[in-house]
Amino acid sequence: MSADTLDRGLVLDSVRVTEVAAIAAWRLVGRGDEKAADQAAVDAMRSALNELAIDGEIVIGEGERDEAPMLFVGEKVGAGGPPIDIALDPLEGTTLTAKAMANALTVMAWAPKGTLLNAPDTYMDKIACGPGFPAGVLDLTAPPAENVRALARAKGVSEDQITVCVLDRPRHGDIISGLREVGARVHLITDGDVAGVINTADPETGIDLYLGQGGAPEGVLACAALKCVGGQFQGRLVFRNNDERARAERCGLSQLDKVYDLHEMVRADAIFAATGVTKGALLDGVRLKDGFVHTHSLVMNSSTRTVREVRMRRPV
Ligand code: FBP
Repeated sequence: MSADTLDRGLVLDSVRVTEVAAIAAWRLVGRGDEKAADQAAVDAMRSALNELAIDGEIVIGEGERDEAPMLFVGEKVGAGGPPIDIALDPLEGTTLTAKAMANALTVMAWAPKGTLLNAPDTYMDKIACGPGFPAGVLDLTAPPAENVRALARAKGVSEDQITVCVLDRPRHGDIISGLREVGARVHLITDGDVAGVINTADPETGIDLYLGQGGAPEGVLACAALKCVGGQFQGRLVFRNNDERARAERCGLSQLDKVYDLHEMVRADAIFAATGVTKGALLDGVRLKDGFVHTHSLVMNSSTRTVREVRMRRPV
């Protein structure tokens, strides 16, 4: 194991963590209580992490220490072992879970200590595409139409053959009209932009491009996933007030208007794991069948470019 690579044994450990969190959150699916669902996932994820032989530090978590009693940024987890940066979202899609809607996930990424961008809990402008395109095909600072044209050219298709995933938010009105003017198809999602970005790397989903503003922590998680499967990502932090700027400074960031690419957000090889809570394009949700609880997970290792789909069942 080099300083830039995690032990492969951590691959299975990571998926165990997202599995237990998914099962815990699933008990709250459709019960209208976002906070309880999130808390269940947090509790389960934290207990599972603390059993592992790692010296982990949360760099992307539930918030700053004074806001989040558990899995806060800076919290140490694990029973001792290699030093590791941990990015997690115990429940990506709290509203999706509370309303029993598709695409809720539990998500985690790990990388050697000091190699994940310590992103503040602010918004981030994001653009992403899957593998197989020339470097620099995307430009976050260019209008949506230009990015669609560039991607269409690189793919050898017309603009109307490009599908762009965007979070359905009023703030994205201009992006959506720019995309439709150039003829692109717009695939709107209500929540869950980690999966939205990852879907660009899976031809089965039909998504070519991800565009729009979502959480910065989710941006780091999505980059860890894209690092494993290839693809391109650019992100720039968005600040709505001085408090948010101060958050970024507390994270040690000084160039607040910098456009980060994937390899600046995840600076070494990473392991990414996600388990479905509710069924979605990426993963099936947790299911109860014949006295067993079933889960469906994705676990990927960028050092080997290995992608595993893991189906687990255990007695209820
Ligand atoms: P939660 O799981 O915290 O509800 O976040 C879901 C999510 O849709 C993310 O995937 C996305 O990055 C962010 O919320 C977008 O934020 P907002 O809902 O404020 O537009």
